[in-house]
Parts: sequence; structure tokens; C-alpha cells
Amino acid sequence: MKMWAGRFREPLDPAFERWQRSFPFDHRLLPEELEASRAYAQALAGVGVLSPEELKAIAGGLDQLEKKAGAEPAWLESAAAEDVHHFVEEQLVALVGEVGYKLHTGRSRNEQIATDLRLFVRQNLDGIRARLAEFVSVFLARARELGPAAMPAYTHGQPAEPVLVAHWLLAYAEMFLRDAERLADCRRRVNVLPLGSGAVAGAPLPLDRAALARRLGFAQISGNSLDATSDRDFELEFLHGLGFIALHLSRWAEEMAIFSTREFGFVRLPEKFSTGSSAMPQKKNPDALELLRAKTGRVVGASLAVSLLLKGLPLAYNKDLQEGQEPLFEATDTVGESLAIATGFLRAVSFDTERMQAAACSGFLNATAAAGYLVRRGVPFRRAHAAIGQAVLHCLETGKTLESLSLEELRRFSPEFEPEVYAGLTLEAVLASHDVAGGTAPGRVKAALAEAEKRLAALRKELDAHA
Ligand code: ARG
Repeated sequence: MKMWAGRFREPLDPAFERWQRSFPFDHRLLPEELEASRAYAQALAGVGVLSPEELKAIAGGLDQLEKKAGAEPAWLESAAAEDVHHFVEEQLVALVGEVGYKLHTGRSRNEQIATDLRLFVRQNLDGIRARLAEFVSVFLARARELGPAAMPAYTHGQPAEPVLVAHWLLAYAEMFLRDAERLADCRRRVNVLPLGSGAVAGAPLPLDRAALARRLGFAQISGNSLDATSDRDFELEFLHGLGFIALHLSRWAEEMAIFSTREFGFVRLPEKFSTGSSAMPQKKNPDALELLRAKTGRVVGASLAVSLLLKGLPLAYNKDLQEGQEPLFEATDTVGESLAIATGFLRAVSFDTERMQAAACSGFLNATAAAGYLVRRGVPFRRAHAAIGQAVLHCLETGKTLESLSLEELRRFSPEFEPEVYAGLTLEAVLASHDVAGGTAPGRVKAALAEAEKRLAALRKELDAHA
């Protein structure tokens, strides 16, 4: 029977009945629903609505439901409940009898779903942060392993200056650490208890909401019942956080795919994360990277869907809010799985450091350093830039490199060149010249790696505290 059948004379149109149900997807909130219901039963006992025996019966029934759902997952697929709240009530009454109906005293599904979703987001937010920590740890391990190897850095997709491969890897570690920190910030606003808000105006019982919050591990209680029952900002913030992760994954995947082309040859695709072609026998395709790149659409699409359902929504609870659940679940699952695949890929991929290093030694990547040499000799930068630009043009015409020009040739472009210039044009010298915090000089990269390790350790420590 529907929870609200009393007021109705006619049954629902069968197609509408099926269409408005959320149980087919919100059954995954069963653990959260049971946890919140247990805490709520205690709050009811606290105000005398449930006797100690009734509390015991209800709590026992909720435990049994949890066990049965764990043992028979198919049970949830087949049940015809309207939503997870309806399901729990029906099943509880089937187990413990009429007393089960007392659990809904002073309570509304509006605050229940808000509570369940906050519990779900809090838990998954920590789960995603743990996956980010794992992914970042692989970036750091690979950075440590590749030590002194260099590669070109690109701007506008054109070779710009050499950097350490570790410096490039640490750029992604920065992004994903930032993502973990963004979620930690979001967590503070997720971790607020709505229960006790009733349907819209506050529960009609003097519930001890602080005790409820403590029991459910919430750091605060919501301050306004209208807002608390209809607020999904926490969900949208989480989705935005997931969107950032998906965007960063797509940037990384795209760059890895480019670097795996025969033309670049910087990375060799791991067979366990690649596929072949049914038509072209020679192919090994970067499917993992392509899918990671493509998943961004779903995840950013989810936050767009929730933004749009919130737009113009009057206070307080409206059924529109139910539509936010599927995007939330989909984006959570997609990002969790994507991070796991990306982590496995990064562990398995091999870097052709010889090719990377060779690319770092060609393409005039020492031109900026050569201009810097002239600047140190007192030449104004713009003049130095022009002189080296002309030298590069000369090299392009004659098939030479800057460091292979004789001193005499160099002096045609600026009289300031002295024999020490050559020492400043080697790859090592160019790398070492970027000796500034955040730069690619090997000492700075080592320090950045140590700093990233500290941030990762702090993240893991914080996650352990929540676990
Ligand atoms: N399934 C509903 C949702 O997800 C639960 C709340 C329903 N509340 C109501 N008054 N119909 O939003």
C-alpha cells in the first residue's frame, strides 16, 4: 500500500505509477536510510514516542533488513516499492508488525532523502579522495623513478623549453591534489544534518537534533527547515568537484594519447590497457585513454542536469529533486571507476626516456637560455631576443643547431658572445637555469616532490581519521 493511500479513491495510472517511482535507483541508498532510521528511532525514544521495547523491536527489524539486503541483493531489484523510504517501512512492518509504522512519527521523506543523500555524498567524497590519493601516489612514484630524464615542454602545442619528466608528472599531481582539497572543502558543507526539519516547517516534536547529529557523525545541524529539506547545493558542489577531476583526467589522457603516437613515441601503451583493431592487424589503440577523455561529458553533464533542476525551484521540497539522484550516482560511479583505470594505466605505462631526452635536445629549446646569456652580458632582453631569433633562422636555413655554431658565426648576431656561452646551452645547464621555486631545476623539482609527498601524507592521514 502507498504511504499516502488514505486520501485517494482511485489507483494511479499504471504507467505514471511506474514512471514516478525512484526505488529502481534509490535502493542503493538503503544503507544510509537504515542508518538514519536507527538514529531517528533513538531520537523518538528520547522524546517518549517509542517505549524502550518498541525501540528495541524497531532497531532489531532495521538490523534484519540490513542483513537480508546484504545476503540477497536481488530482493531490492524485484521489490515494487515507491522509493527506499516506502520500502523500509513496508519491510519493517512485515518483520516487526504495527509498531513499525511508529517510526514515521514526526518524520517526512523530504528530510529523509536529504539526510540519505548527505550520508551518501560524504561517504563517496571520502572514497573518491582515497582514489585520488592512490592516483597521486603513482605520479609521485613515477616522478621519483624517472629522476633526471628530460622532455620538451610545449606551449601552443609547439616545443618551448626543456623540463624534467618529473616536473611534467608533478603538474598532474598538483591538479589531482587540488581536486582532493576541493572535495575536503565541500565536505564541510555536506556534513550538516537535515533530519529534524520535518516536511518543511521543522519536526512537530522537540527532538534532540544535536544528539541525532552526533549519532550520524554530522558536524553541524541545519539552521532552517525550508532550506534543509530542499537544499541540494552540497550535491551540486560535489558534482562540480567530480567535474574538475574528470576534466583533469581528460587533459592527462589526451596528452598521454598524443605522446603515444608513433610520431612522438614518448610513451609505450601497456597492452593490458589497450585494444587492437579488427581490421588493421598492426594496431594498438589507446582505448583506455580515449574513454577516460570521453567520460568527462557524463560527469560535467551530471552537474549541469542538477544545476538546471535547481534553477527556479521554489521553496521547499519539490519532486523535481528526485531527478538529481541518477546524475549523482552516475557521476560518482564514473569518476571512481575512471580514477581506478587511470591509476592502473599510469602504473603500467612505460616512458621512452631516450626519445623524450632526444626531443628535449632538439628544436632550439635552448634559445631562451641563449638570450638569457646575452642579457647577463648587459644586452637588453628585446635585443637579445632578436639576435637569437636571427641565429635560429640561420640554423634553420643551414641545418645547424645553436650550440653547433662557431663563436665567429654567433658573433655575427651579437658581438657579446664569448666561449662560455656553450656551457650555458647544454640541456643540463638550461634545466639548471630555472632555479626558482616552482621551476624545473633539478633541486627545485626534488623539493616539489618532497612537498607533494607531504601533502599526500596529510591527505591520507585525514582520510584515515574519517575511516
Ligand atoms: N523519492 C523522493 C525523492 O527522491 C523522496 C522524497 C519524496 N517526498 C515526497 N513528499 N513525495 O525526492
